[in-house]
Amino acid sequence: MDDNIIIHSIIDEKEIDLLKDKTSFRYTYDKATMDSLKEHFNLKDSLYLLAKKEQEFVAFCSIDRGWWEDNFFFIREILVDPHFQNLGMGKELMSRCIEHAKENKAVGVVTETAFENIPMQKLCEKFHFQKWHNSQWNEGITYKLIF
Ligand SMILES: CC(C)(COP(=O)(O)OP(=O)(O)OC[C@H]1O[C@@H](n2cnc3c(N)ncnc32)[C@H](O)[C@@H]1OP(=O)(O)O)[C@@H](O)C(=O)NCCC(=O)NCCS
Repeated sequence: MDDNIIIHSIIDEKEIDLLKDKTSFRYTYDKATMDSLKEHFNLKDSLYLLAKKEQEFVAFCSIDRGWWEDNFFFIREILVDPHFQNLGMGKELMSRCIEHAKENKAVGVVTETAFENIPMQKLCEKFHFQKWHNSQWNEGITYKLIF
């Protein structure tokens, strides 16, 4: 990873605004995503990680307790700017989020992705997430990592 990239945890909700309209592949942080991020930011134990190179946006990843099964954490968003992809950023941020869930005594971590999102699927497989049958969502793949 580039030594000039700094990862920090968002503590002021206003900083989330920086993510508005950030885009990568077919994925864009539209109003609905921004509203959801703000809502889940305030849950207990949420972790929002922002990576920047000086003032430039590099990547974002968030994890929170907003999953319906008890004591699971949910990786709600992960996005690496196209200029910084394939450099290990996604892996680094996801790893920190998983560690955070472990430190908070979670049972496991869940995430969801579209059927066509191969980079995200490969990333999940790296961490040994397993595909999980999700009765509440069938528009993509739900992944679970049980600790
Ligand atoms: C998914 C995403 C976050 C991966 O971030 P990244 O920083 O490029 O990924 P990394 O460099 O950490 O790569 C980690 C692993 O992911 C997989 N991967 C990443 N990009 C990939 C690609 N284009 N094709 C296939 N696998 C890929 C590989 O397994 C890779 O491991 P390897 O380098 O040992 O082969 C990034 O592609 C992205 O921002 N996508 C758009 C937003 C998005 O779809 N978010 C998820 C919504 S559910």
